[in-house]
Amino acid sequence: MIVLAIETSCDETAAAILEDGKPLAGHIASQIQAHRPFGGVVPELASRNHVENLAPVVRTTLEAAKRDIANVDLFAATRGPGLASSLLTGFTFARALAAGAQRPFRAVNHIEAHLLSPFLGSSPAPCIGLVVSGGHTLLVDVEDVGSYSILETTRDDAAGEAFDKAAKLAGLPYPGGPEIDRLARTGDPARFDLPRSMMRERGFSFSGLKTAVRYLLPKIGPDDLPDLAASFQEAIVDVLVFKCERALAETGRSILAVSGGVACNSRLRDRLAAAIPPTVARLLLAEPWLTTDNATMIAYTAYLHAYSNTAHTDDFASDVDPNLTLGC
Ligand code: KG4
Ligand code: ZN
Repeated sequence: MIVLAIETSCDETAAAILEDGKPLAGHIASQIQAHRPFGGVVPELASRNHVENLAPVVRTTLEAAKRDIANVDLFAATRGPGLASSLLTGFTFARALAAGAQRPFRAVNHIEAHLLSPFLGSSPAPCIGLVVSGGHTLLVDVEDVGSYSILETTRDDAAGEAFDKAAKLAGLPYPGGPEIDRLARTGDPARFDLPRSMMRERGFSFSGLKTAVRYLLPKIGPDDLPDLAASFQEAIVDVLVFKCERALAETGRSILAVSGGVACNSRLRDRLAAAIPPTVARLLLAEPWLTTDNATMIAYTAYLHAYSNTAHTDDFASDVDPNLTLGC
């Protein structure tokens, strides 16, 4: 089965093609440079750029996969959550392709796609999933594809959002996560004592941490920035690692699957590997190229649903949902 998927939930225009669950090609037109002067994503600018990028991105992906649009068995696109105007561009484009090719269309939940992305190349198995992105911080008990129980979710800022906001306060470019990761490599994570809010309670809260950074910044100099970046990152990583270990212990699951843009963070990857040895659980970290927004994870999720639910074959009549949650 050949799946062609489109992802336009935020500022990346992405397309990907999978054959029988294996990636053939994927292409992403990044808009980071366009939004950087504004310090964050400007919705109207994002949707205008998607409209320009979609046809070339799909064409490049088909060429790289050495496939023709007529070879595609299933079209898919991100339904939500995300920016309404961005979602509409890719969703409408993919549905039009499906209608033209007279093939079915699948609407995919972006959070579910992140959640399942560590399994690409193998088969999903029961696990604890940690999704840490710019929009979401979720700890999920995964029974099967489509069967999810949310264990903990964010009360305020998502993990990636906290990275981006703290970086902006410190005058670092957007997106801030990779910048803090890079600066933190030469910093002392124990230099500043920053809050680990809701460590023992259920749920995540990172806005207090951001406020602590806001108050510290006027008191420190540029040479202290690496220490602040490392201390800030350590506070987030401490919370994430603690809650993953607790979820594994409480549920008895034997796999931890970590995904979303913040799963790219080098300190989080190292600390999880140290805290969760193979004797405790199998640690499945999404490959770095799959952590930030991409269409391969959308195609993979569409494929898994098409494969597991033959009764329900088409979402052509569905609509985008900017506030879509993980279906539980
Ligand atoms: O998954 P993603 O592309 O978008 C959403 O669905 O939200 O995640 C983007 C987020 C941004 O907040 C970015 O700063 C963060 O992932 N990010 C990182 C790193 N790379 C990307 N955060 C921390 N360390 C990184 N290395
Ligand atoms: Zn995402």
